[in-house]
Amino acid sequence: MNGLGYEKMEKYYLTNLNDLLLCMKKAINFINPEIEYHHQQVAYLSYKIGIQMGMLEEELKDLLIAAMLHDVGSIAFGEELEILNEGDRANAHAYAAYKLLEKFNQFAYVASIIKYHHLPWNHGSGRSFDNERVMDQSHIINLADKVVVRLNRNKPIINQVNRIKHYVSNNKGSLFADRVVDAFMEISEKESLWLYLAYYPDSINDIMEYILRDNRLTVDDVVSLTDIFARIIDFRSPFTAMHSAGVAAAAVEIARHAGFSSNECKMMKIAGNLHDLGKLKTPKEILEKNSSLSEEEYNIMKEHSFYTYMALKDVSGFEEITKWAAFHHEKMNGNGYPFHLKAEMLPIGARVMAVADIFTAITEDRPYRKGMAKNDALKVIIDKTNDGDISKYISTILIKYFDEVVSMREKAADKAIKTYKSFTEQMKISQEDVFAMVAEKSES
Ligand SMILES: [Fe+2]
Ligand SMILES: [Fe+2]
Ligand SMILES: [Fe+2]
Repeated sequence: MNGLGYEKMEKYYLTNLNDLLLCMKKAINFINPEIEYHHQQVAYLSYKIGIQMGMLEEELKDLLIAAMLHDVGSIAFGEELEILNEGDRANAHAYAAYKLLEKFNQFAYVASIIKYHHLPWNHGSGRSFDNERVMDQSHIINLADKVVVRLNRNKPIINQVNRIKHYVSNNKGSLFADRVVDAFMEISEKESLWLYLAYYPDSINDIMEYILRDNRLTVDDVVSLTDIFARIIDFRSPFTAMHSAGVAAAAVEIARHAGFSSNECKMMKIAGNLHDLGKLKTPKEILEKNSSLSEEEYNIMKEHSFYTYMALKDVSGFEEITKWAAFHHEKMNGNGYPFHLKAEMLPIGARVMAVADIFTAITEDRPYRKGMAKNDALKVIIDKTNDGDISKYISTILIKYFDEVVSMREKAADKAIKTYKSFTEQMKISQEDVFAMVAEKSES
């Protein structure tokens, strides 16, 4: 295989940020549709406040993305972090989101906005924290978030406005920055603001599309952005804390030996990062069950690659990647799931992914068992090839380069585990910081 033609262009854009954010929203929706709704509402109100304060388009862009993702930290660290409540853990999830997002260079500002989205204004001392400047956008999201959690969208909204305005003005200067409160009070005169906010917050999608109209992403950008996705998927459970990272590394190594170009290998990394995206919809009890699954549970687990397909299929430029990622449980003989595709419908990238996934699943360590030794793993691969489940061409490559694939997978897994551990450590420290801060808070 000699390239899919992606090599020709010097600077080649794979897709755009808006499409990937939409995909991220679908992933968030898998975990909890309430969070997606909450994100849209906070983004809508934040944006309107930002406009009222005269923010520039670049500032509005960071504000919007930050608002759209501000509670993503609660997802990565499990549903046990309360999102919609203003509990003690308010800042742990803010810090987690910051750590997750800062790695993607286009999100440097976004990450630091989110880091302080629960910081009280405290009569001006909230302008900075730990000698770090706190951006206006953080204070906007702080107010928008607290307003949104006080709305009841199941009751007539305009009847709630006075109560909410009263709450906001009572906390002017203490919890909320004065300028943000003033802007909010101005716009809160319009009924339309409240009606959009309560009943049509998804109108933010059109605004996002407009604001992000020129934000194209190269294949390298997408690799680094989907590394974040992989962490969100993997870190949800310590049982899988390195699985996506391992599959991606193994798939790239196999693809390289199968003649994929360097750009195609990067696309393989992206597909590997995303292949289990649909698992965000799989209940944790099933994900973490260490005995074998009942038939009912297995049927639920099997839904995940279909959801991966649904989350990726509308991302422009992802036509190949979607197939490589979402067909990883299809089999050459048509006995796989969920589409029962046969060999002729399975592109070589999907065949690589299927082999990489099986290989990774059997060789990686899980909290309840050790990974298989080489000979046992080879036997599984050979059996599955003889059964017509996986591609003979690809399994031959895996068998030939087995040790190299193992070492790439292990390297990636070690790195993921290290990140996972330092993450959980830092989360503890940040929670302590935050408890002190929350105690200072004048209102909660
Ligand atoms: Fe939050
Ligand atoms: Fe929130
Ligand atoms: Fe899977």
